[in-house]
Amino acid sequence: MIKEVETVELLRGTLQLPADKSISHRAAMFAALHEGRSTIENFSEAADPHSTLDCLRKLGVTIHEKRDNNNTIEVEGVGRDGLQQPSEDLNCGNSGTTMRLLSGIIAGSGGPARLTGDASLSARTMKRIIDPLTAMGAHIEARKNDFAPLNISREGPLKPINFPLPIPSAQLKSCVLLAGLFGDDPTEVIETLPSRDHTERLLNLPIQNKEGKKIIQASRENDIPAQTYRIPNDFSAAAFWLVAGAIYPDADIRLKNVGMNPTRTGALDILKKMGANIEVLNPHKEGAEPVADLHVRSSQLRPVEITKEIVPNCIDEIPILAIAMLFADGVSHISGAEELRHKETDRLSALANMLIQAGADFDEFKDGIEVKGHTDFVPKASVFDSYHDHRIAMSAAVLSLMAKSPSRINGAECTAISYPSFWDDIAFLTN
Ligand code: S3P
Repeated sequence: MIKEVETVELLRGTLQLPADKSISHRAAMFAALHEGRSTIENFSEAADPHSTLDCLRKLGVTIHEKRDNNNTIEVEGVGRDGLQQPSEDLNCGNSGTTMRLLSGIIAGSGGPARLTGDASLSARTMKRIIDPLTAMGAHIEARKNDFAPLNISREGPLKPINFPLPIPSAQLKSCVLLAGLFGDDPTEVIETLPSRDHTERLLNLPIQNKEGKKIIQASRENDIPAQTYRIPNDFSAAAFWLVAGAIYPDADIRLKNVGMNPTRTGALDILKKMGANIEVLNPHKEGAEPVADLHVRSSQLRPVEITKEIVPNCIDEIPILAIAMLFADGVSHISGAEELRHKETDRLSALANMLIQAGADFDEFKDGIEVKGHTDFVPKASVFDSYHDHRIAMSAAVLSLMAKSPSRINGAECTAISYPSFWDDIAFLTN
């Protein structure tokens, strides 16, 4: 699908964003591991969390989608020992979170199961999860280069491990903790740089903070509580409009009920540092997660530096933050972001190609990018490729809003991975 993005005078309106993808995956998995019924309100309509639901169904979990105004689902949880051996492959689609977190659950429960993914997911390394899960006693067969499909089984007992995270990845952290939930003795994950903490927060896992490190434990001792999960709206979706609102000359955008978990909102801190005119309104808590409404208006942006310490808290927002940097008055720099090369596509390279087409002044490095911004920068209209990556497609769309004539986005349908109503929302704001 090709989408044309027109240039308009005003960008105005209030948006109801899609539900948080990361929390939707986790709520569904944790509800499945609880014995009994759980309700999840505002479950994401995006493709990735639905890959998780499909896999859970193949593991014998009954899920009712209520199709009410609230996108409620009910999960008949089978408990840690109630998962069935799937008779078909567990197809994780495009979703790295589904594959990595579910691998932890399968290694913990013993499987056997075969996890597959689409072409993009089958080209992303799974070595990071294969190593610790193997140390825990799982047997994992992968394709060459540690790529999916993954055949996972376990015969002997689950061995608890003490695991200092080699990379600040929430998917890896969650994978090991979920396997740990099946062990009689605690598995410990040691985190140096904080990554999103939805798993430990929703499961209320025991945490110690020692010498600047966070130690999280998981074992059978940890109850998976019965709860009604209420999923906040997705901060990662909000980020596209925070940037659009800040760089657009006449913009006023309001975003309702956005997840404000501090391990997710690094982009808000960065945009504020850049001078973005963003108000955080009505902050409150919904279940375990903080939420607020956001209001963004046109802003004069300053350059900024993003270094490795904050990268895990804005990992999915870096492409759109680079777009913001094009319109700041001076040189901005992103380093410590090599992990972007292992996402749905190599996002640093996709971003660099987009910036070349737009006529931007920048340098690409192995682990980041330097952008020479100008407050009066006008991107060249172009035909931008999505590289089948939802966040690249949406970044290109926001960039295109600033051009003098319409641009086109190729492969625009991939926005449905995290934000099915993205093209409707852009049309709504520009009309
Ligand atoms: C996610 C964690 C991040 C993020 C991904 C979702 C999660 O990946 O990029 O979109 O839900 O745990 P890493 O933790 O592997 O960096």
